[in-house]
Amino acid sequence: MTSSGTPERSPAGDALSVDNASRVNGRTPPNGHDEVARLRQALELANQQLLEATRDAGMAEVATGVLHNVGNVLTSINVTANLLCDRLRDSKVTSLTKVCALLKENSADLPGFFAKDPRAAKLTSYLENLSVTLEKDRQEGLNELATLLKSVSHVKDIIWMQQSYASVSGLVEPIHPPEIIEDALKLSTNALQRHNVQVVREFTETQTARAERHKVLQILVNLISNAKKAMDCKEPSQRKLVIRTGNGPDDTVTIQVVDNGIGIPEANLTRIFSHGFTTRKDGHGFGLHSSALAATQMGGSLTAQSAGPGQGATFTLALPGWKDAPLDGSSPS
Ligand SMILES: Nc1ncnc2c1ncn2[C@@H]1O[C@H](COP(=O)(O)OP(=O)(O)OP(=O)(O)O)[C@@H](O)[C@H]1O
Ligand SMILES: [Mg+2]
Repeated sequence: MTSSGTPERSPAGDALSVDNASRVNGRTPPNGHDEVARLRQALELANQQLLEATRDAGMAEVATGVLHNVGNVLTSINVTANLLCDRLRDSKVTSLTKVCALLKENSADLPGFFAKDPRAAKLTSYLENLSVTLEKDRQEGLNELATLLKSVSHVKDIIWMQQSYASVSGLVEPIHPPEIIEDALKLSTNALQRHNVQVVREFTETQTARAERHKVLQILVNLISNAKKAMDCKEPSQRKLVIRTGNGPDDTVTIQVVDNGIGIPEANLTRIFSHGFTTRKDGHGFGLHSSALAATQMGGSLTAQSAGPGQGATFTLALPGWKDAPLDGSSPS
């Protein structure tokens, strides 16, 4: 983060190895790739709009989380687009061109060609095989395009969600934990799936919380992202994220994010909330600091528990209940 609060770099930009809309990894796609190029251009534009929208709304923190997610989706879009380009480049359509050339060459006496030329005898089975290959290519190409369109629509969902949260920035309102948890999970779906993280929801009936939606969303996205990274040390089949809701002391509503990852040594349990504290080589040490700050601003708290290295971690977000919290969102006396 820069001192102005804007993200230092765009993870989406990092993830996308596309120089511009018409070049893929240094190669210019052959003609016929217009649709892919158009989609790329639309995505670049959407990403730009997302950045501007989040900056305008002063939601740089959420933008960082959202852009991480958009970046992940763009990475998979890039992979699929590359596959599609390879498929089109290697297409057997050129064999059809050779058949046409052969027929044209013999167009003066086609009956004679079919009667005498040994190549003509093989033509029927050749064309048959070719049609099978082309049909297979077509089907696989369509499947890849469907994946691409699904990813594009996922990006659209993320942007839509971000905008709907931005529009209510600063507003303290009744929050139903499961709804906001589902939104946070939606923003993290792609990364969680890629890391094979099993998500377990343990929702118990809670009272309504009083909080700012975008702040709670930002906190949960941060906690889920940290949990996912903390579980990188685990076998993919063992990675388990539990999200739990409950009623805490003093009429608070709690949301817990529990992972079975790398764990936290006791000495670090409070240090992790300091600005700039990170143990990850690509970390900024910003997520927990801003999340704890946001929790306090809403009259709540964010705390961490861990039985130690290798024992996983539990982060508890406590928010004031709707009945007792002061209307301005400041700490209850
Ligand atoms: N679920 C977790 N399990 C184990 N350690 C964690 C967990 N969440 C956070 N930490 C520790 O707390 C540190 C600070 O987390 P924080 O989210 O503030 O920053 P970061 O993840 O390192 O970087 P970024 O600012 O990019 O999020 C992490 O580097 C890690 O050491
Ligand atoms: Mg983090």
